[in-house]
Amino acid sequence: MLVEKNASLQPYNTFGIVARAETLVRVRSHADIAALRADPVLGQAPVFVLGGGSNVVLTGDVKPVVLKVEIRGRRLVEETEHAWIVEAGAGEPWHDTVAWTLAQGWPGLENLALIPGTVGAAPVQNIGAYGVELQDRFDSLDAVDLATGQGFTLDAAQCAFGYRDSVFKHAPAQAGEAGRLPRGMGLAGRALITQVRFRLPKPWKPELGYVELERRAAEAGVAQPTAQQIFDWVCAIRRAKLPDPAVLGNAGSFFKNPTVTPEQCADIIARDPKIVHYALPDGRIKLAAGWLIDACGWKGKTVGQAAVYEKQALVLVNRGRGESSVTGGEVMTLAKAIQTSVYERFGIRLEPEPVVV
Ligand code: EPU
Repeated sequence: MLVEKNASLQPYNTFGIVARAETLVRVRSHADIAALRADPVLGQAPVFVLGGGSNVVLTGDVKPVVLKVEIRGRRLVEETEHAWIVEAGAGEPWHDTVAWTLAQGWPGLENLALIPGTVGAAPVQNIGAYGVELQDRFDSLDAVDLATGQGFTLDAAQCAFGYRDSVFKHAPAQAGEAGRLPRGMGLAGRALITQVRFRLPKPWKPELGYVELERRAAEAGVAQPTAQQIFDWVCAIRRAKLPDPAVLGNAGSFFKNPTVTPEQCADIIARDPKIVHYALPDGRIKLAAGWLIDACGWKGKTVGQAAVYEKQALVLVNRGRGESSVTGGEVMTLAKAIQTSVYERFGIRLEPEPVVV
């Protein structure tokens, strides 16, 4: 177990926000978790589990012990007639893992290429892009209950996946809250994910449901693209639209796409006929948050070093560098101003996607 005091978190959050951890512990194995729990001070302290730091806004120095998950390892667990089951350590970089599965001849994760972050963070957020969500390729995961030290395995149902949501984003149910939360729900700050297993179905089928992928396939004159082609197209689309965190700090989409009733949508269409919207299977309508923010004129606007990305209004970026980087306060001030203006114009409350610490 490697313990660092007063550690800079700037390299460990993709926004590049300047913040420090009073204590940072690198977790590379189950033995590290056991050592952490056995430590008389660290074992009792509140903790914050950090993956790739690609979905977090740090609003100040972090007092809870920061557990930086660096568990590595990738392997094929099983190949059946219907699927490849592939396992990866929670600390493996997500994109490298996608590329590795393809290189091994196990397709299925290609639509999720180039998403920043780690394997362990993928189920927390139920990452999704270009017609595929993690839950569509998920088998199970292993985690450790930090309160008891017990290891456990969860299947997809137990992870309670939703749109950019899972059991890992909700606080553990308190005795007094039993009426509000289903019993046992909520593992935030309690579970440390160690390994994730993916179920990559056979025979592989291309997922071209997203309009830009369909367009690329048509342009290339390919009816049945390979997984590698989809991977390449997804990388190209992302590079064209989304800032590379290594160049311009950001945390991906800053807000979730909101859903409304058909009546609410009709009301908005009457005023703004161009609004981008999609019908969901449950009858509700999903609105493109990026369009709503764009329509309110936010592209390029700034608060201090926080800015709305010029090419995608749903992404907030860090225009500063090094010590002059954006602060979490600037990001949240900009985010709140955007929420207010979207609410005033459309009556819709945008919900932030990243975890605010
Ligand atoms: N739009 C605008 N102006 C903008 C931004 C978007 O008019 O400034 C319009 C676009 O023209 C498009 C629509 O809004 O018609 C949707 O935009 P886009 O296709 O870029 O997708 P998104 O809904 O903004 C979501 C995910 C992304 C994911 C893409 C592709 C969320 C919150 N975001 O973005 O995920 O990559 O779809 O599947 O669901 C992330 O979660 O961090 C993320 C990047």
